Amino acid sequence: MPILPEYLKGVPGAIAPQPSFLSPLSAERPIFCQDNQHLVAQTTRTLGTTLAAVTYYLPPAMTYLDATAEFYAEVATTPEVGLCCVQSSPLTMPGLAVPDRMQAMNYGCGTTVHPAELAGQPTIAYVGVGGGLEALQFSYFSRRPGAVVAIDPVDEMRQAAAANLAEAAKLNDWFEADFVTLLAGDAFALPLADESVDVVAQNCLFNIFEPEDLRRALAEAYRVLKPGGRLIMSDPIATRPIPAHLQADDRLRALCLSGALTYAEYMQHLIDTGFGQIEVRARRPYRVLDSVQYNLDQHLLLESLDTVSFKVPIAPDGACIFTGKTAVYAGEGVSFDDGAGHYLTKGVPTAVCDKTAKNLSAQADVLITPSTWHYDGGGCC
Ligand SMILES: C[S@@+](CC[C@H](N)C(=O)[O-])C[C@H]1O[C@@H](n2cnc3c(N)ncnc32)[C@H](O)[C@@H]1O
Repeated sequence: MPILPEYLKGVPGAIAPQPSFLSPLSAERPIFCQDNQHLVAQTTRTLGTTLAAVTYYLPPAMTYLDATAEFYAEVATTPEVGLCCVQSSPLTMPGLAVPDRMQAMNYGCGTTVHPAELAGQPTIAYVGVGGGLEALQFSYFSRRPGAVVAIDPVDEMRQAAAANLAEAAKLNDWFEADFVTLLAGDAFALPLADESVDVVAQNCLFNIFEPEDLRRALAEAYRVLKPGGRLIMSDPIATRPIPAHLQADDRLRALCLSGALTYAEYMQHLIDTGFGQIEVRARRPYRVLDSVQYNLDQHLLLESLDTVSFKVPIAPDGACIFTGKTAVYAGEGVSFDDGAGHYLTKGVPTAVCDKTAKNLSAQADVLITPSTWHYDGGGCC
C-alpha cells in the first residue's frame, strides 16, 4: 500500500508516491508550488548513493470557477425557480411560446434581448446558455440556422438547453432547433473567429468572475465582435464594495450574490476593454444582502444593470456613456450651439452622454436632467 508522506497528510487530494520511492521521509523538506494545472510538492531523496529529485503531483484544488460549474450542473438537472431573475415579467413577443421548464430555468438578472439592437438578422454569440430562454428570444429576431451560437462549459446545462429548445421547436412554428448552435466552451476562450459576430450577449455570468477573469472574458467578447458590434450584458452591481468575506464565498459568487462590482468599477472594465460607447438600458433593485445573514454592518443593496457596449473607438476625450441624461437650452435665443457638435433647440431635451452633460453643465442657460438609467438611442455624444 502506498504510504502518504507526513507533509502531505491533510492536503486535499494528495496522492502517495509510487511504492518504488518509498523510504523514510522524515528528512524531506518539500517545496510546494503551483504550475498551471497542479499543486506540486518537490523534494529530494537519497536513493542508495544518489540524491534524486522527487516530485509529487497533487490534484488541483477546486477553484471558484469549478464551484460555479458544479453549481450550474446541479441547477441544470433540478431547476431552481427564481434563482437569479429579477421580479419582472418575462419578455414576451407575439407568436413566441416559452416551454415551462425553459421559463423555470431563467437564471438571468435582467434582459439582454433589446429588439432595437437586432435588426438585420444579426449573428449572436450567447455566453452561458442557461436553459436557453434568451437564445430562443434572440432566434425570434434572427430566424435562420446557426444565427445564435450559445456557449457553455457545463455539459448538463447544454443538454438541458438542447432539450428545452427542442421543446420550443414543437411549440413555435417559426422556430427550428438548428437556429441555435450549442457549443462547449467558456467565456475565456470562445470557440469563434476574430471579428465574426454582430452581438455578444451574456446575462448574469460575468458578475461571477473575479476582476482578472472579468478582464479576460471582456477581452474575449471584444475579440470576436465585428467592428461596430455590440456587447449586451445584464449583471448585478453593488451599491458599495462587497466585503472580502462574501467575495471569497464561492457558492454566493455562483449565485450571483457576492462577485458584483460597483457601477463605477463595472463601467471602467468596459472602457478599459476598449468599448467607445456604452449605453445603460436599465438599472433597478436586484437583491438586498441583509446585515444578519451576511454578517455586514448594514444591509447592502445590489442592483441589476443592463448595458449595450459598442465596439467603436474611444474618443480622445474619453468614452461616451449614456445613462439617460438630457441637456435643455432655456436661454433667450432660439437655440444653443456649443461649437463642438451639440445643437440644442430651446426648451427641447436632447439626450447627451455623461461626458457632454458635464461639459454643458458649465453653461448658465443649459439645464442638465439627471440620469434616468434608461437610454435607447438618439441625441448626441
Ligand atoms: C447565472 S446562469 C445564466 C444563464 C442564462 N444566461 C440565463 O439568463 O438564464 C450562468 C450560466 O453560465 C454558465 N457558465 C458557468 N461558467 C461559465 C464560463 N466560465 N463560461 C461560460 N459560461 C459559464 C453556466 O453553466 C450557466 O449556464
